[in-house]
Amino acid sequence: MASTLLNDTFLRALLRQPTDYTPIWLMRQAGRYLPEYNATRERAGSFLGLAKNPDYATEVTLQPLARYPLDAAILFSDILTIPDAMGLGLSFEAGEGPRFARPVRSEADVARLEVPDIEATLGYVVDAVREIRRALTDGQGRQRVPLIGFSGSPWTLACYMVEGGGSADFRTVKTMLYARPDLMHRILEVNARAVSAYLNAQIEAGAQAAMIFDTWGGALADGVFQQFSLRYIEAVARGVKREHDGARIPLIAFTKGGGQWLEAIAATGVEAVGLDWTVDLGHARERVGSRVALQGNLDPTVLFAPPAAIRREARTLVERFGNHPGHVFNLGHGISQFTPPDHVAELVDEVHRASRAVRAG
Ligand code: CP3
Repeated sequence: MASTLLNDTFLRALLRQPTDYTPIWLMRQAGRYLPEYNATRERAGSFLGLAKNPDYATEVTLQPLARYPLDAAILFSDILTIPDAMGLGLSFEAGEGPRFARPVRSEADVARLEVPDIEATLGYVVDAVREIRRALTDGQGRQRVPLIGFSGSPWTLACYMVEGGGSADFRTVKTMLYARPDLMHRILEVNARAVSAYLNAQIEAGAQAAMIFDTWGGALADGVFQQFSLRYIEAVARGVKREHDGARIPLIAFTKGGGQWLEAIAATGVEAVGLDWTVDLGHARERVGSRVALQGNLDPTVLFAPPAAIRREARTLVERFGNHPGHVFNLGHGISQFTPPDHVAELVDEVHRASRAVRAG
């Protein structure tokens, strides 16, 4: 596909190259805070109906870009597609979050786990990536912004696979981890191979960067995190191809609650590390130096405050990072479904404006 990227600010920042301003995108930027998302979801019948249909997935991926001058698009999908493809039977109960009909609990369950055939089971995701790339590109082959692919981390996927859904304390999965570390390592090995194959399929289909969501890494004790999450992020970083169609494909690792392990995450071989809002961005930058780019880290709750407060907080973050290459602005976690859409416009504008001002000195 011979296309020109009209706005490569996001990719340049991930590779720590100079940019005219700080690029911004938002975790869960296509979602329930947007009325147009809710309308499409209504037509699709359900969240899974939306995510499994490439036409709908393309439509909602583009919705936030039609409203805001964001610097990247992210594939509309979910991290739970992999365990679903493994045959665990994913459903979303109204107002309850994800459920797996067949969670992985016994030694026999663990032994049965296999890396799914990506084409056969996750072809709808790969098709969505291709279709979104096409939709981002005009008749002259000019692509508006780059497309991000993503996956859950091996550990975060294991949390849902063993718990059978969300959890407040991760009792089941952590009990398995401490009682039968051999079983947990087998799950994580299968997951790491599945995540690598899945991200490589997205990259081959046109994803220009990829992100690993380790949402529950921060639930692990120090020492345990390194063995059961970090090690498998490292395996994924080794397994994911970083060159496609002559372009570099940067990989971002985001461990929510992982601030104390920043140096270790930066050493896994990824190009960028995502940060939640509990970390000071200026100190984080000093800690990693020139080793990786950083992505983050505004508290998503700031978006409920009036525009002047949103602008003040955004400006503070941009200034804390300072006039250095390697910052992608984002929230420290997914945007809340109750966020006023107009407030997002204020945030995007202020990040672009304040970062140009910082560069001008
Ligand atoms: O960022 C984007 O716009 C891309 C889309 C995206 C979704 N989920 C869509 C979604 C991404 C990147 C995810 C990742 C994801 N999914 C994570 C990791 C990031 C994070 O937020 O920590 C996790 C843990 C999941 C699992 C998941 N999916 C849960 C727990 C839920 C239910 C809770 C909730 O927020 O409703 C989902 C459903 C889901 N995935 C929704 C969306 C837009 C809401 C479903 C709906 O429309 O009803």
